Amino acid sequence: MSHHIVELRNLRHVYPDGTVALKEISFRITHGESVAIIGANGAGKSTLLLHLNGYLAATGGEVRIGDYPLTKATLPHVRRTVGMVFQEPDDQLFMPSVYEDVAFGPLNLGLTGLEVERRVNDALQRVGVGHLREKAPYNLSGGEKKRVAIATVLSMSPDILVMDEPTSGLDPHARRQLMRLLREFNHTKIFTSHDLDMVLDLCPRTIVLHEGEVAADGPTGDIFRDDDLLVRCRLEKPFSLQGCPICGGR
Ligand SMILES: Nc1ncnc2c1ncn2[C@@H]1O[C@H](COP(=O)(O)OP(=O)(O)OP(=O)(O)O)[C@@H](O)[C@H]1O
Ligand SMILES: [Mg+2]
Repeated sequence: MSHHIVELRNLRHVYPDGTVALKEISFRITHGESVAIIGANGAGKSTLLLHLNGYLAATGGEVRIGDYPLTKATLPHVRRTVGMVFQEPDDQLFMPSVYEDVAFGPLNLGLTGLEVERRVNDALQRVGVGHLREKAPYNLSGGEKKRVAIATVLSMSPDILVMDEPTSGLDPHARRQLMRLLREFNHTKIFTSHDLDMVLDLCPRTIVLHEGEVAADGPTGDIFRDDDLLVRCRLEKPFSLQGCPICGGR
């Protein structure tokens, strides 16, 4: 299943104003892995994810999806393979209704009629927003927008799911629902998050970014036990590893 592999080779990104957001990032994620990319604000997480389906072009180095480098020629294939949920749902939702936004991807894949209907209903249901299908996306609450944005990607059944802060803005019930959904998605998953308990729960592997570089890449449990690394990268332990403030950790 090499077509589900994601590989970065010395990826570098410099924004037009001269900000060096990524410096020589290299890693390889293989089929079925569930990987978290964590780091402080401004570490480069969103910039990195935006390269995985060509929303940003590398200043240097290479992105490979499957057996091919990401180029203009492979971009349409990459966009079908990699489903991307942006950090800001407003960047993802642009149609007059929720239904049309979620149907947009399947229609672009060439699907029609009942299959599109089935995919839209299924995706909306999986994130618990079936009742919003006729609403205008710009009238939704922040958490509702986020869930619809996730549905726009689920409706395309991507082989690789990439999500930038998927639980931000979600209420506890919606967060739990999303975590269940992610656990059941058994293709490749890559997401950034400041929700470190979710990372610990869902991702056996974690990559730590710090000032545009990979500071660590390894088993999530090891990363969260490395106090020096956490301090250096302005990270904290997940709440579940901090001990209970009331009973003193028992
Ligand atoms: N369009 C842009 N032009 C110039 N600099 C940018 C642009 N977008 C991001 N940056 C800068 O690039 C760096 C990395 O930003 P990025 O958004 O990737 O961080 P992040 O790790 O996703 O942070 P957060 O946790 O806040 O989402 C930051 O220093 C940021 O100020
Ligand atoms: Mg970000």
